[in-house]
Amino acid sequence: MSNNKTISGFSKLTKSQKIKWLKENFLEDEIKAVDTLEKFWNPDDNFQKLFDGFSENTISNFPIPFGIVPNVKINGKIYAVPMAIEESSVVAAASAGAKYWLKRGGFHTEILGTTKEGQVHFIWQGDKAVLSACFAEIKPQLIAHAQPITENMQKRGGGIVDIELKDFTAEERDYFQLKVTFQTCDAMGANFINSVLEDIAQNFTTLITDKTTNPPMIVMSILSNYTPQCVVRASVECPVSDFNDKHAEFYAEKFRRAVRIAQIDTYRAVTHNKGIMNGVDAVVLATANDFRAIEACAHAYAARDGKYRSLSSCTIENNYFRFWLEIPLAVGTVGGLTNLHPLAQLSMHILGQPCAEELMSVIATIGLAQNFAALRSLVTTGIQHGHMKMHLTNILHQYHASLDETEQAIVFFADKTVSVSAVRSFLENTRN
Ligand code: MEV
Repeated sequence: MSNNKTISGFSKLTKSQKIKWLKENFLEDEIKAVDTLEKFWNPDDNFQKLFDGFSENTISNFPIPFGIVPNVKINGKIYAVPMAIEESSVVAAASAGAKYWLKRGGFHTEILGTTKEGQVHFIWQGDKAVLSACFAEIKPQLIAHAQPITENMQKRGGGIVDIELKDFTAEERDYFQLKVTFQTCDAMGANFINSVLEDIAQNFTTLITDKTTNPPMIVMSILSNYTPQCVVRASVECPVSDFNDKHAEFYAEKFRRAVRIAQIDTYRAVTHNKGIMNGVDAVVLATANDFRAIEACAHAYAARDGKYRSLSSCTIENNYFRFWLEIPLAVGTVGGLTNLHPLAQLSMHILGQPCAEELMSVIATIGLAQNFAALRSLVTTGIQHGHMKMHLTNILHQYHASLDETEQAIVFFADKTVSVSAVRSFLENTRN
């Protein structure tokens, strides 16, 4: 197996064989490679088998810190919110945001919609009016034919909401689409939606061919991760005077300007929304939801009017401060990894087994808390003040600083700029 950087049948090798091959071909100089990989195997064989089953070609696990944001008051209920994130300061910022609003009425959320969409993309060469008339006639049959797949979802209050025929021939010759709207209740619903779409595509082909002797060519059938109808709003509000700061009006106005800037300037909007996603993704990951889908959708939503803008908004009217976030969140609380990953199960337990709408509320709240804390730092002390405290601890850890050295470093850097080289020379001087 040695010195062969390409391989066929890698997936069929055992875990040890995979590691051996990797070591021989890509990690020759890395003497501790196998130790490092093995260190992260779960000692419980059953757990390890479970994790291995989530993905393919697994050789180890990749841990990410799992933390808690306490004191999160949403619609009058208190939550402790689990977050899985590797970036320092994020959990601290969300906690600070949550605590700040705990004393000012907490967060409020509203579900603005919960439907999702999928599409059957197809090519049809013929008279549009004929296609349109045929579609109107067969639409009930398409829905009825999918009944065996939708039955259970219907019992829970979901299923197919509507099917529309969309004409895209102005943009691409003969290109049409069946746009199917779904209600998937507490499931994220990707598998359900895709199964229904494939059934609709197959049945549509048969029925249209029977009626017109002109078969459509199905290009593909797939859910859309763009869910602008599955949206939650999280908000906070208080009189400016409640900010308990002698410069309350000045900082509230600076804060409002910061949000406004992120609505005007795309360069700032991306960083601003990245801060929101710091909070959102961490809860999405802790509950084993699909953070790639959430990310892709959130950014498309941020650009829904043709320009990429802030997902959050702020107003101050008659000395009353309002700050809110509107974000599409297609998450599930049943099915998928949420019920399989032991830590995701625990996250759901900590959150009190929320339904999908409640989980949307929690996630959006943490996004808003995160955004609030980041902007508050930015318009007051500057972001580095808080960041560098965490950064300092990480650098000290990297240089194996003792407890005593750590304490000295914290005092020393209290009024100085933290950088890797500054910490290194501080340690060198102390150690000399
Ligand atoms: C860092 O991960 C996130 C921030 O840059 C967000 C922001 O600038 O609003 C602090």
